[in-house]
Amino acid sequence: MNFYSRKWIKPEDLNPNGSLFGGRLLSWIDEEAAIFAMCQLANGNHLVTKYMSEIDFVSSGKQGDIIEVGMAVAGYGNSSITLRAVVRNKITKEVIISIDKIVFVNLDANGKPVPHGMA
Ligand SMILES: CC(C)(COP(=O)(O)OP(=O)(O)OC[C@H]1O[C@@H](n2cnc3c(N)ncnc32)[C@H](O)[C@@H]1OP(=O)(O)O)[C@@H](O)C(=O)NCCC(=O)NCCS
Repeated sequence: MNFYSRKWIKPEDLNPNGSLFGGRLLSWIDEEAAIFAMCQLANGNHLVTKYMSEIDFVSSGKQGDIIEVGMAVAGYGNSSITLRAVVRNKITKEVIISIDKIVFVNLDANGKPVPHGMA
């Protein structure tokens, strides 16, 4: 698994309880996953998020923490690519969230699935 992306948790990233807001974290994961998926594909410039499996918030992040977002390819389809994701504390390595499957689909100019060239 590659941990390319890091984030520094700031006040605007918190929920009303003072810990990292889950929606913010999912947004970071979705963007990082899309970039990672595009980088794996020969012909995958028009990817959309199709599916995310069960999301397990294992522990919480807090203001000032540095977290890292890890991605790995779980599999290639014709038009789809499936990733695994883990977010963890950069220093302690404690897992914050894990997602077994994030599926992206490569689309043509008309919004129809099209082979991405890696099947
Ligand atoms: C992406 C979209 C065009 C796919 O349409 P569709 O009718 O499901 O297309 P298909 O049935 O031909 O499936 C396309 C691929 O997605 C995969 N797929 C479809 N539904 C899936 C699901 N629930 N879980 C996992 N993979 C799925 C199929 O296996 C296929 O993969 P393959 O070509 O590698 O074999 C359509 O669902 C869509 O536009 N969704 C909205 C996407 C979006 O707006 N995302 C948020 C913003 S990025």
